[in-house]
Amino acid sequence: MADDPADFGHAPVLLERCVALLTPALAREHSDGSGAVLVDATVGAGGHAERFLTDLPGLRLIGLDRDPAALDIAAARLSRFSDRVTLVRTRYDDIATALAESGCDPMGSVHGVLFDLGVSSMQLDHVERGFAYAHDAPLDMRMDPDTPLTAADIVNTYDEPALADILRRYGEERFARRIAAHIVRRRSVTPFTTTGELVELLYQAIPAPARRTGGHPAKRTFQALRIAVNGELDSLRRALPAALDALTVDGRIVVLAYQSLEDRIVKDIFRAAVTSRTPTGLPVELPGHAPEFRSLTRGAERADRAEIERNPRSAPVRLRALQRVPRHDAARRATHGG
Ligand SMILES: C[S@@+](CC[C@H](N)C(=O)[O-])C[C@H]1O[C@@H](n2cnc3c(N)ncnc32)[C@H](O)[C@@H]1O
Repeated sequence: MADDPADFGHAPVLLERCVALLTPALAREHSDGSGAVLVDATVGAGGHAERFLTDLPGLRLIGLDRDPAALDIAAARLSRFSDRVTLVRTRYDDIATALAESGCDPMGSVHGVLFDLGVSSMQLDHVERGFAYAHDAPLDMRMDPDTPLTAADIVNTYDEPALADILRRYGEERFARRIAAHIVRRRSVTPFTTTGELVELLYQAIPAPARRTGGHPAKRTFQALRIAVNGELDSLRRALPAALDALTVDGRIVVLAYQSLEDRIVKDIFRAAVTSRTPTGLPVELPGHAPEFRSLTRGAERADRAEIERNPRSAPVRLRALQRVPRHDAARRATHGG
């Protein structure tokens, strides 16, 4: 999607805002970032990472990605910073293990965490990986090519209710049952092997009036299959609490989500993190129950029109950010011997 080869196939989204939100935590002790650690949980093509490493010549960056092809690109792009960069091939829900193996305490040692969710432009552009409904390719969609389950396995083997459930839950597809019935009928004759065959079926399964209004008829089904193949929502649900645990006091986390199911998970986990656990109605905060985080954003922030024109992939983005706050109540409890 990015036209500039300097983007390594992927233009980083809301880059200036990510810099503005994370830098105060990364440069708090030293203005060049020395002593600070940034975890880029979705390092991808290394666009965001490159900017932080350039701006902060003392910063250490730990970059995670489950896609080995993305890590190869990040390694090439970030090679000039190699003494300050650790790249780890892992799912982001294994952030604690990745930190421990990189010599960082998984609890309270990291100054910044960035999640830029979903697929990269370069994954979409690598047609043979089957993420894009616009190109005919094997029905694959695995972010990590070593995992066993492909999109073809799902459409060819899951029973009709399970298929409908995936399409409804992960694609918010209102014709889920109809599409599932069409899939099961067609595969009994010929199993699916390519994205093109599935797209063709979706044109038949979705009624013509809905096809004219609801965006590309394959969009929601492809999103649903990608989420199911990669276990994306469960991975995110586990990763965010672990990322919050990893932050030191005053450390900051920024998350960029591109579809509503992921953004809802971010919103719910962030809301719980900034909410007191003292029962409502009590006049004072119970020890250990005060929120450990404060929100740095009001609702979700979006890309502006200029960025969307430059990089259409930024159109659906929703950014949310938190900062860890000191545990005053814990100190008070210690003072009172409680
Ligand atoms: C939108 S791209 C990140 C782009 C990056 N910020 C840049 O500027 O180049 C998202 C990346 O997250 C990776 N990813 C998605 N889900 C993941 C997961 N559960 N664990 C680890 N990496 C994941 C994808 O492989 C992809 O490379």
